[in-house]
Amino acid sequence: MFDRSIKIAPSILAADFANFGAECRAIEAQGADWVHVDVMDGHFVPNLTFGPAMCAAIRPHIKGVMDVHLMISPVDVYLDAYAQAGADVITAHVEAGPHIHRTLQAIRALGKKTGVALNPGTPVEAVAELLDMVDLVCVMTVNPGFGGQSFIESQVAKIARLRQMIGDRPIHIEIDGGITVVTAPLVSAVGADVLVAGSAVFKGGSVDNPAPYGSNIRAIRAAAEAVVG
Ligand code: DX5
Ligand code: ZN
Repeated sequence: MFDRSIKIAPSILAADFANFGAECRAIEAQGADWVHVDVMDGHFVPNLTFGPAMCAAIRPHIKGVMDVHLMISPVDVYLDAYAQAGADVITAHVEAGPHIHRTLQAIRALGKKTGVALNPGTPVEAVAELLDMVDLVCVMTVNPGFGGQSFIESQVAKIARLRQMIGDRPIHIEIDGGITVVTAPLVSAVGADVLVAGSAVFKGGSVDNPAPYGSNIRAIRAAAEAVVG
């Protein structure tokens, strides 16, 4: 069943890299709705992170949704590997190549939920012809590549336009980058429902002291829900 309730998706880019399995279990136990995995290739973005083997290794430690954000180019050749690794949602960037339509068809054919992501410099109209083939649109509110960057406020108007374009289609609006208790309500107020947060979820906690993860998640959720009608 599709629902637009607020979902918090911690990005494990901000987790302890020596402890991913335990970190995934900890954030879910502390109230995370989805687990967001940021895949970077050192080419599409200036950083390197997780291959399909790493995703397969953490999959048994995640009970809920594994949300895989592919910041890679080319992307098509790796879709099968991330599907096999157990991704539930696979998101590709509209800027990753000339054939995003084909990429989204391929993700659907693999039986996965289909996401398309937009960099801050890309107008929302870039997804206009894709709305009948996606389950999620991810609006980047930082330039992708690194956690801990500042939210780009000019993206809020873009999110509002996207919400209008989506109408009553069952499409999630995911926001990725710089989400905190201060910025979460800016995006939930204009229709975002999946909030990715790295630094703001993991700050102050650890696998040995996971309670701060829970209070951070609850604070972001409460701030976001407070402005949703
Ligand atoms: C950026 C990633 C984000 C990022 C979020 O390229 O896609 O998911 O890790 O981290 P924070 O919440 O710290 O901005
Ligand atoms: Zn991401």
